[in-house]
Amino acid sequence: MNFKGRDIVSIRDFTKEEIIHILNVAEKMFPIAKGEEKSELLHGYIMASLFFEPSTRTRLSFEAAMKRLGGSVIGFAQPGTTSVMKGETLADTIRTAESYCDVIVMRHPMEGSARMAAEFASVPIINGGDGAGHHPTQCLLDLFTIRKEIGSIEGKKIALVGDLKYGRTVHSLAYALALFKAEMIFIAPEQLQMPKEVVDECMKLGVEPEIANDITNIEDIDVLYVTRIQKERFPDPEEYNKVAGSYRIDMNLLKNAKDELIVMHPLPRVDEISPEVDKTKHAAYFRQTFNGVPVRMALLALVLGVVK
Ligand code: NCD
Repeated sequence: MNFKGRDIVSIRDFTKEEIIHILNVAEKMFPIAKGEEKSELLHGYIMASLFFEPSTRTRLSFEAAMKRLGGSVIGFAQPGTTSVMKGETLADTIRTAESYCDVIVMRHPMEGSARMAAEFASVPIINGGDGAGHHPTQCLLDLFTIRKEIGSIEGKKIALVGDLKYGRTVHSLAYALALFKAEMIFIAPEQLQMPKEVVDECMKLGVEPEIANDITNIEDIDVLYVTRIQKERFPDPEEYNKVAGSYRIDMNLLKNAKDELIVMHPLPRVDEISPEVDKTKHAAYFRQTFNGVPVRMALLALVLGVVK
């Protein structure tokens, strides 16, 4: 298996065996991510972090991952301070950034932007989210979290809840879960259900997701993957107001849940999970957030060819 020089644009570009390999490398990175072991694995390498959209976890965990491995980081989180404001094209920004670094991590509001950047760049492009399109690194850390928390993915019952239409994390995750033969329930208001293409892809992989509007039969669920309604992607704010606050995970909902049920969320949350859930053992979202570091370490080391 050789990852050197590869772009990470969509989870669909990877086989199940490749995904398992990435998760295994991430597992080895865990003590370094925790700061318990020191590493200079990426000493002398530079990562450019180009964030054209708001981010907390993706950007900070990529930067932490690079620095924990002894590498350096350049980049921006406010495109307003760059030549983009002067009308520079994405292609030119990418050509510029790549001449200063060994790998580029990019987040951009336009769907397809990461694929386009990958065509221009000779260094690997890692997609940190392209509009409502893909979020492959989040998907990998989500898979890593499920495996770590409940032991396996295959055969588990996983409910994806919230904004399945505009949420890019669930577009990536649904595909990967189908690849791993999980059972899936897509729970969303009608107008925010999973795009047909994603449902079709799951079917092609032999998994038929159940489609629902409400969270029922909580006692059967192993993973409740909750998402934020993606306000910024609604063409009409009125439409957002109709669905805002559709779901809220609270103690009352969880009272019949199995002990091992985990609640995941890519974060940020708005009001989808009541803070009282945070102290329960169901709450896996902050551990999930941390898992971004070892998973992104694995990806950086693999695409830079430092780890095989
Ligand atoms: C998500 C994103 O940006 O797609 N956040 C993340 O990367 N952890 C989820 C969201 O914004 O709702």
